[in-house]
Amino acid sequence: MNTDELRAFQREILGGIPANLPAAFPRSEDVSHAPVRKDILSPAEKELALRNALRYFPAETHAVLAPEFAQELREYGRIYMYRLRPSQPVKARPISAYPAKCDQAASIMLMIQNNLDPAVAQHPEELITYGGNGGVFQNWAQYRLTMQYLSQMTEEQTLAMYSGHPMGLFPSHKDAPRVVVTNGMVIPNYSKPDDWERMNAMGVSQYGQMTAGSYMYIGPQGIVHGTTITVLNAVRMNDKTGSGPAGKLFVTAGLGGMSGAQPKAGNIAGVVSVTAEVNSDAAHKRHEQGWVDHVIEDVEELVLQVRASVEAKEAVSYAYLGNVVDVWEAFDRAELFVDLGSDQTSLHNPWAGGYYPAGLSFEASNKMMASDPDAFADHVKESLRRHADAVNKHTARGTYFFDYGNAFLLEASRSGADIMNTDGTGFRYPSYVQDIMGPMCFDYGFGPFRWVCASGEAADLELTDRIACEVLEDLKKEAPAEIQQQMDDNIRWIKGAQANRLVVGSQARILYADALGRMKIAKAFNDAIAADRLAGPVILGRDHHDVSGTDSPFRETSNIYDGSAFTADMAVQNFAGDAFRGATWISLHNGGGVGWGEVVNGGFGMLIDGSADAERRLTSMLHWDVNNGIARRSWARNEGAEWAIQRAMDQEPLLKVTLPAHAADDVIAEALK
Ligand SMILES: NC(=O)c1ccc[n+]([C@@H]2O[C@H](COP(=O)([O-])OP(=O)(O)OC[C@H]3O[C@@H](n4cnc5c(N)ncnc54)[C@H](O)[C@@H]3O)[C@@H](O)[C@H]2O)c1
Repeated sequence: MNTDELRAFQREILGGIPANLPAAFPRSEDVSHAPVRKDILSPAEKELALRNALRYFPAETHAVLAPEFAQELREYGRIYMYRLRPSQPVKARPISAYPAKCDQAASIMLMIQNNLDPAVAQHPEELITYGGNGGVFQNWAQYRLTMQYLSQMTEEQTLAMYSGHPMGLFPSHKDAPRVVVTNGMVIPNYSKPDDWERMNAMGVSQYGQMTAGSYMYIGPQGIVHGTTITVLNAVRMNDKTGSGPAGKLFVTAGLGGMSGAQPKAGNIAGVVSVTAEVNSDAAHKRHEQGWVDHVIEDVEELVLQVRASVEAKEAVSYAYLGNVVDVWEAFDRAELFVDLGSDQTSLHNPWAGGYYPAGLSFEASNKMMASDPDAFADHVKESLRRHADAVNKHTARGTYFFDYGNAFLLEASRSGADIMNTDGTGFRYPSYVQDIMGPMCFDYGFGPFRWVCASGEAADLELTDRIACEVLEDLKKEAPAEIQQQMDDNIRWIKGAQANRLVVGSQARILYADALGRMKIAKAFNDAIAADRLAGPVILGRDHHDVSGTDSPFRETSNIYDGSAFTADMAVQNFAGDAFRGATWISLHNGGGVGWGEVVNGGFGMLIDGSADAERRLTSMLHWDVNNGIARRSWARNEGAEWAIQRAMDQEPLLKVTLPAHAADDVIAEALK
């Protein structure tokens, strides 16, 4: 790294919010920007928003900043403080580049930088990492102040982060988390989408999504793995004749942050896939990256090409540049049989750009959602009704349709679509967690463990891949039949990981593993650091979309059937339990994939440096971080989880979990007569 650039970067971090304001400079033209947010604040609330923004700055600068911030609020619906964007490139530099007093703080800086890297983040200048509204900070003053606090922090302090706002450094101790993050935690009665719009516009709350506000996003690779596992298992589940994936057709939508992984997963699974995308930039970006094979703009042409590929049993992916509703309707007219169907439009955010309604162009939608939000919402609802009708026609012919955790069924039902089951007690279609992820992965403790090599060296990632693979191959020898398929899939994934070239930003890897696998892999990394086989420490983490971290009745906990799917004790317990077992940072969020008010989720980051302390922490925390959720899933009488928690108790005598007794159907029926 160029030493002048490094010095300038460090100077800027140490300087926090500069005493002399940097000159104002316009938003960049060559990066994607967040949609203009709706004008929701009353005049009194606008005043508050402005006062709130100005409290980061000395009074003598207010005359300059007040009109500028007022203009941002008018023009974009938020105050991002564009003037405060850093002058040095925002990217994950090696851990040694950060001006910090402890490595733990430097590791958090590294991950913040990664989440805001323009190569990684969706709307980098609005500090949005993914999902349209998943923020790391609400404005650039918060970024600067947080980085400065991290540069000053010792191992006797903890930084409290309130929805992007650094409340300050508080005395703590070396085993405490260095940072405690909460995002969007609001009083439950004030958790409707407009409450987010209002509080976010006033600068007092933010939507942290899952790994955005918790600094644990690692680019699209995280999602490629999860999506591959889902599509692979969906194909296996529906392969009643044993003919395999060849010639099976998968139809879905979305080529955005996470959804962009679908065609790649389709290719890996060996099917023909069609992914509709209304945004030409998003579709072409995925095509240029080689994530989708062909882009087609004419729906009739699409029908012809897809039919030919199905007949030729090709593993190929098509992007349709247009609305997904048009694809479902055209395939119905053409009587083209669809084996698997889903949807990954951003319906967790239906009114502000997550879902583009059929019959309205992309450009017209973008205008209308800001200028006439009520009319836009009506278009969305009508489109969802049409969307569901078209899907229903296909499923009547045998298509297996599943909700991809994007709140499609939830929002379609709220729009009055014909999507409920016959007795009206639930949805007509399962979520991918109900049928696939839950019973096959989460109940057994398998989830998206991940790590980042803090040296920034590709050689470190390569060695950690090899170490992880060796650990899994060892574990597989003794693994019971129930988890053999999982072990096989993950060994194959890690063996192909280097060839798949999935690294964007930091040197990161994802791997589905259970509690034992995560602990053994992490310990092997710690040993390799101690033995100087790795050039630097390793940051452990996971997606929040996991066994224990997330309570989300329409997604992660949708396969919990004891009535507790709408409780959030598990996620909160997980956050608290990780905190005192050694996490370097922890986070708890309202929001996440399914929408504000619909989910509580949390996660952690942990720096391991080869020390005995690191080994103690990783063993204690990873064990809890997985087994907490298995215990809850077992208490809900999920068969796989009952098996998995018994196995965990056999392995660890200090673990004693309350197990459920099963009441016989006839006893219940008789008692309720
Ligand atoms: N991939 C996963 O494993 C996974 C898991 C759980 C949930 N999700 C959910 O999937 C959704 C998508 O995530 P993302 O990060 O890709 O979001 P994103 O906003 O980056 O991408 C969604 C894409 O859908 C496109 N789109 C919207 N409406 C459309 C329409 N009617 N027809 C065609 N294209 C349309 C948008 O232009 C956008 O590019 C989110 O709600 C997320 O929470 C994904």
